[in-house]
Amino acid sequence: MATVVVVAWNKMKKLLLMVMLFLALAGCENRKEVVEEPVVLDDYETAESYWFLLGHTADQKIEIKTNPSNYIPKSIIFASSNEEVVKVSDEGIITPVGAGEAMIAVNVDDIIKSIRIEVATSKAYFPAPAIEEMEGLAYIEGQLIANKTYQLPEDYDPGGLRPECQEAFDAMQKAAKEDGISLWIISGYRSYSYQEKLYAKYVAMEGQAAADTYSARAGHSEHQTGLAFDYNEISGTFQNSDAYKWVLENAQDYGFIVRYPEDGQAITGYIFEPWHLRFLGTEMAIKVKNSGLCLEDYLGITSQYAGE
Ligand code: DAL
Ligand code: ZN
Repeated sequence: MATVVVVAWNKMKKLLLMVMLFLALAGCENRKEVVEEPVVLDDYETAESYWFLLGHTADQKIEIKTNPSNYIPKSIIFASSNEEVVKVSDEGIITPVGAGEAMIAVNVDDIIKSIRIEVATSKAYFPAPAIEEMEGLAYIEGQLIANKTYQLPEDYDPGGLRPECQEAFDAMQKAAKEDGISLWIISGYRSYSYQEKLYAKYVAMEGQAAADTYSARAGHSEHQTGLAFDYNEISGTFQNSDAYKWVLENAQDYGFIVRYPEDGQAITGYIFEPWHLRFLGTEMAIKVKNSGLCLEDYLGITSQYAGE
């Protein structure tokens, strides 16, 4: 009973928080503010109240710092004034949704602090990418990139799936099996010349424009990195399978992301491929997954063939 009352009370407080934010925003409708950085929260802001500071970290989680640091809040409630712009989870994880401005309020033991978030584009949350080039390979945040913009050299050949990717798959396969799900790789590493033939076959079958929506040109396929593979089944219904549902929920914990997500074609350059996973390592895969973005938007890069 007591729990129910607390939950209801917290919900009411969340609602009040949202109303308060809405009113605050309505009051500054005509405000013209130049925001140099699209995201306002880089550093910690000091609250009016003396004891909590809010921050927003690169992994998009609102952090609450208390002073004294050993103070343990009894309740923390997050609310967004506009969930079409930005969502905030009960844990304080921010997900950009659409362009616009919104406030996120946090009520910590009835002390309320709000922060303004501007989403200019989904890339706005991240600094310009630092692209490191090594022997013709492009790395961003330590990740080897292959897409329509970034090409791998013809002679780049890791000789198969990279061990870290294979080991992570083996661990994921084992965990899935324990949940009654079978996973198996159907296409792993593909060489430059193999991809060249594959792409040419699709072009001959369906024309270049269609082929470009689902098959990479030679040098542009992630399969050549040895860090990506197709698993189980390539079909228009695979997204409804239990295997895909399991992967969607768990793959990040083994270091994988669904590389070409639903509705991502304008950004990734490819149609939805629920069967294609990319290894990034768990830390980054979890960050990308939590961001709700595809890899290009997460890193702030494009996927476009030169001259197109
Ligand atoms: N199907 C993916 C895009 C590839 O060909 O690498
Ligand atoms: Zn693939």
